[in-house]
Amino acid sequence: MTAANLRSAFAGESMAHMRYMVWAERAELEKFPNVGRLFRAISRAEQAHATGHFKAMGGVGGDFLVAAGGGFGYSKTSDNLQGAIDGELFEVNEMYPAYLEVAKAQKEAAGIRSMTYAIEAEKVHAAMYQKAKKAVDSGKDAALGDVQICTVCGYTAEGGLPDSCPICKAKKRFFVTFACQ
Ligand code: FE2
Ligand code: FE2
Ligand code: FE2
Repeated sequence: MTAANLRSAFAGESMAHMRYMVWAERAELEKFPNVGRLFRAISRAEQAHATGHFKAMGGVGGDFLVAAGGGFGYSKTSDNLQGAIDGELFEVNEMYPAYLEVAKAQKEAAGIRSMTYAIEAEKVHAAMYQKAKKAVDSGKDAALGDVQICTVCGYTAEGGLPDSCPICKAKKRFFVTFACQ
């Protein structure tokens, strides 16, 4: 069951990665460059989650039909941000807690790790998107400093580069900065 959940989470994260790139472009077209940068940064974190889940499956390979929830809709940035908030909160409150219970019951250490990394980052993503939506809904771009992404676990933070990742302990060189222009 954990392998199936990891495949589904891989699919969900892969779609989130792409969806946020599309929504970044839309935000930039609407002249919200910081919202665009936020989407691009978080897209990079979702890539880290997808990669983590893929590796956690180890040698369990082959062709599978994969079902995963994924939000759709190419709309105005305010609506896209709401879609992003809904998706992140679903992962935080329903999807990953359920998957984690199963992974723990099955003592699947790699799955527990990659899912724990994801849920920690998704909480931050939801909060950052909520803040950005407030700005956009009042007709302004988001106020956003440098955004730091850990490419190992997807840890996401606004501000300076940490010496090491507080979640997975990866060193500075594993971070990507989405810098304020
Ligand atoms: Fe994610
Ligand atoms: Fe996320
Ligand atoms: Fe990390």
